[in-house]
Amino acid sequence: MQEDKILVLDFGSQYTQLIARRVRENSVYSEIFPFNVSLQKIRDFNPKGIILSGGPSSVYDKGAPISDMKIFELGIPILGICYGMQLMAHLLGGNVAKAVKREYGRAELIIDDDSDLFKGIPPHPPLSKGGSRGGELRTTVWMSHGDRIEKSPEGFSPVAHTENSPIAAIADKKRNFYALQFHPEVVHTEKGREIIKNFVFDICRCKPTWTMKSFIETAKKEIREKVGNQRVVCGISGGVDSSVTAVLVHEAIGDKLTCIFVDNGVLRQDEAKKVENMLKKSFHMKIKCVDASERFLRKLKGVTDPERKRKIIGNEFIRVFEEEAMKIKNVGFLAQGTLYPDVIESISFKGPSATIKSHHNVGGLLKKMKLKLVEPLRELFKDEVRVLGHELGMPDEIINRHPFPGPGLAIRCISDITKQRLDILRKADVIVLEEIKKAELYGKIWQAFAVLLPVKSVGVMGDERTYENVIAIRAVTSVDGMTADWAQIPYDVLGKMSNRIINEVKGVNRVVYDISSKPPSTIEWE
Ligand code: XMP
Repeated sequence: MQEDKILVLDFGSQYTQLIARRVRENSVYSEIFPFNVSLQKIRDFNPKGIILSGGPSSVYDKGAPISDMKIFELGIPILGICYGMQLMAHLLGGNVAKAVKREYGRAELIIDDDSDLFKGIPPHPPLSKGGSRGGELRTTVWMSHGDRIEKSPEGFSPVAHTENSPIAAIADKKRNFYALQFHPEVVHTEKGREIIKNFVFDICRCKPTWTMKSFIETAKKEIREKVGNQRVVCGISGGVDSSVTAVLVHEAIGDKLTCIFVDNGVLRQDEAKKVENMLKKSFHMKIKCVDASERFLRKLKGVTDPERKRKIIGNEFIRVFEEEAMKIKNVGFLAQGTLYPDVIESISFKGPSATIKSHHNVGGLLKKMKLKLVEPLRELFKDEVRVLGHELGMPDEIINRHPFPGPGLAIRCISDITKQRLDILRKADVIVLEEIKKAELYGKIWQAFAVLLPVKSVGVMGDERTYENVIAIRAVTSVDGMTADWAQIPYDVLGKMSNRIINEVKGVNRVVYDISSKPPSTIEWE
């Protein structure tokens, strides 16, 4: 069955991804295409409607992004947002006024016509005693634009205004073209979700058939068709993306998938065992666990520079992975947990480029072994990957895991990396996480971990003077890892962590809590 789909044309807005997400939240599939995609590609995608995103340009800029005029002849509904609105007006014969000053932030939208796009937004004020409805239909919206529409194009009429924008929304109901000066996709627009819902269901007449179940069935079929009789290899890190990829590919092709898990010697305590157990016992997958820890630690010996640590671990990983992959006969594909944001970042507005994640840069490997990529998650956002994992029956422990960096404990064991120092760090790290989980804080925190500092401090234990290591606890809240706040963990929880670490981890006599935010600090210490 062909699903109903909405196509988003990207004109470079920082919110473009959000538009697609909002559509998908309604169980309607949505994909983002660059603004200059060919008409044929749009036809092939066969959308029930098109949304033109915002963007930083002015339609008067030299080289402003302009899409094919013929999209307006496809006979499907189109919604322009911000720059998308101005472009629509510009292309269809309206008048766009150059910005005198930018309008940015919250604004009160007054709805002049509450049919179609604004249906039910907001609910009508109650009837007055005389039976008439009093007051205006107002709702808060988020503006971020320079230029604005001065004259609607032929066939359009204004349907809403704000104090600063006499034409804040326009509609051509005959052709089903709509345009908004504000951003319905951001949370600050009070009724944004409803506006998008109205467009998707009432105007485009989509049916909500895109569910994770249907995604799984389609993905499995596509994987089987693509792979044929060849084998697939997949690198497992223990993180959400690679684990879900592996489980999904395994569901599709069973034992034709071989997973490789490289123990690089800087993993958390029992990490390798846990991942292996989960995939082997619960999912009966073929998994090769390679204990390359000695090899990694030898290379890391005496290295203190964080970037060198990263390079060594990245390069060594590729080497070990390659050696193992070479041992498998008839391998034709490499499965990778590339997500939609990675794909958009590389192919969208900024122009086409390679789509391989840099920290898993296996480009050389692909060439050498002549492998092709299988990326079954490349249409999904992170939260959708988690839903998919649930649907596939994966345990919460994997699905809701905090991110863990590729270079692992190497960038948390500040300065020199030795087996002994790593052991101290691992034991402290286990305690931090145990206490975070006991206090039911794990789900509220982006990342929590221990860091072993390269300083010793004086202490006293019993009657004896000690001169031992310092552990720093780092815990942050964040939405995307780009910015972060230090987590305000209750003192008693911090107290327990400190007590336990000093009592249970030999070689530590002091614990400190990191209270720096990002920026200017980073989440990791190195
Ligand atoms: P920072 O320390 O830059 O970290 O604030 C932001 C997020 O990225 C993770 N991180 C890494 N992940 N390889 C990775 O795979 C790396 O080299 C690396 N460095 C930092 C970090 O754990 C946090 O989630």
